Amino acid sequence: MYQHVILSIMLAAPIAAQTPATQKPAAGATQKPATEKPAAAAAKGVRTVEIIGTEDMKFSMPTITAKPGEQLRVRLTAKGAMPKIAMAHNFVLLTKTAKVVDFVTAAMNARTTDFIPADKKADVVAHTGLAGAGETVEVTFKVPAAAGDYTYLCSFPGHFQAGMKGTLTVK
Ligand code: CU
Repeated sequence: MYQHVILSIMLAAPIAAQTPATQKPAAGATQKPATEKPAAAAAKGVRTVEIIGTEDMKFSMPTITAKPGEQLRVRLTAKGAMPKIAMAHNFVLLTKTAKVVDFVTAAMNARTTDFIPADKKADVVAHTGLAGAGETVEVTFKVPAAAGDYTYLCSFPGHFQAGMKGTLTVK
């Protein structure tokens, strides 16, 4: 039912923009245009999680549960009307050992790299590019093998502090 609602919302949204080709994926992760058909990926057992990012700076899905080593595709769609320069979202999954506040603080000054700080790449398991209103970005990655809770967040300045974060539980 819930997925139905999200699907309806997404279908009602403008055709999603593709992930910019200039985006550099995190180590071990691949970013693909959101419009690419998942047929080949589905054969490899990739599970897709759809998340909406809203103008009140929340993820529609604050928790994700995954199996160790699972192939996961996170698709993030930004809803709203504000210009991208003022309001955009990404999905950044951090390692268990990352210092989250330190990462977010560094990200604030990393606009040229879409708020993924170059010197904190080791903290990142996977991340998408930035999605402005009506755009969808996605990233496909292998869930870490170690069980436990991993923080994901939006690294656009101020959004983590406003509550744009969640927990990926590996078990
Ligand atoms: Cu955001």
